[in-house]
Amino acid sequence: MSFPPKRAADNVLSSAPDLGAPEHKDYAMASLVPFDQRDGWIWFDGEMVPWKDAKLHLLTHALHYGSAVFEGERCYGGQIFKLTEHSERLKEGARIIDFEIPYSVEEIDEACRAVIQKNNLVDAYVRPITWRGSEQMGVSAQGNTIHLAIAAWDWGSYFPMEQRLKGLRLTHATYRRPDPATAPCKAKAAGLYMICTIEKHRAERAGYADALMLDYRGRVAECTGANIFFIKDGVIHTPIPDCFLDGITRRTVIGLAKARGYEVIERVIMPEELSDFSECFITGTAAEVTPVAEIGEYRFTPGQICETLLKDYMALVHPDAQAAAE
Ligand SMILES: Cc1ncc(COP(=O)(O)O)c(C=O)c1O
Repeated sequence: MSFPPKRAADNVLSSAPDLGAPEHKDYAMASLVPFDQRDGWIWFDGEMVPWKDAKLHLLTHALHYGSAVFEGERCYGGQIFKLTEHSERLKEGARIIDFEIPYSVEEIDEACRAVIQKNNLVDAYVRPITWRGSEQMGVSAQGNTIHLAIAAWDWGSYFPMEQRLKGLRLTHATYRRPDPATAPCKAKAAGLYMICTIEKHRAERAGYADALMLDYRGRVAECTGANIFFIKDGVIHTPIPDCFLDGITRRTVIGLAKARGYEVIERVIMPEELSDFSECFITGTAAEVTPVAEIGEYRFTPGQICETLLKDYMALVHPDAQAAAE
């Protein structure tokens, strides 16, 4: 018996939260060559394999139980920014979800560099991922092999500078960042992104770039893939990352701000306070430093501090600056 292929819309559960009408808009990624049909090389358990052969079996534990941890890195002019910090976070994230990657941080660093070289990449995104394999298929997976793969692809600047300086439009998310007592929130674990994708889709359908998520206590937390900062009277405020990722970009930008002499306060920020701030920006490996113009009913004007930090960050990631810092 054969079945007609299902359309994506058939898979929407009737009990799912209201995400707004599913319109068939062309989102940025839709026009790209699908990720399983590209050319190049992927580092897969210690070997370089042709991109299209880097496959998994359907009965892989990670697919069913979310037992995977990943990284997102950017390579600028052939140099991966903060590579070792990313590899360390990957190792630690795997430990948090109860497995040990069978490669050292140095070996992971080396493999990431090899992927860049093998694919002749210069400005690129690097995606290491580690996961539990397919020996056991159940909640218990004590005997499963631990895998590691690293892919990388060409990726220039996310937005043109003029557009970035105008600021993004964000909406409010419905899901909240979970309580650390209910989820391993310090790991960049695949399962934690389930709610991020739901919220990102909801925001995009409503015409926004992203959504601001609160935490389980109702405090301002972060966006679906980036940390957030606010400015008031020349002082920078950012939420304490006690239940969400303390981004490598976040920490870098705090360092840059302090080096400029700006005061940075990490504190509890409640959503009602958003009206008090004049500037807002988000940080992340993908987003870099990107100003925000609105969050729902609140408006911000990207100004001097946003622009200074954006430019300082772009100067720091430049391969010459990276080489000088080593
Ligand atoms: C949910 C989330 N928060 C924050 C960040 C920023 O982290 P980083 O600056 O290390 O890329 C990311 C990006 O990986 C993310 O996915």
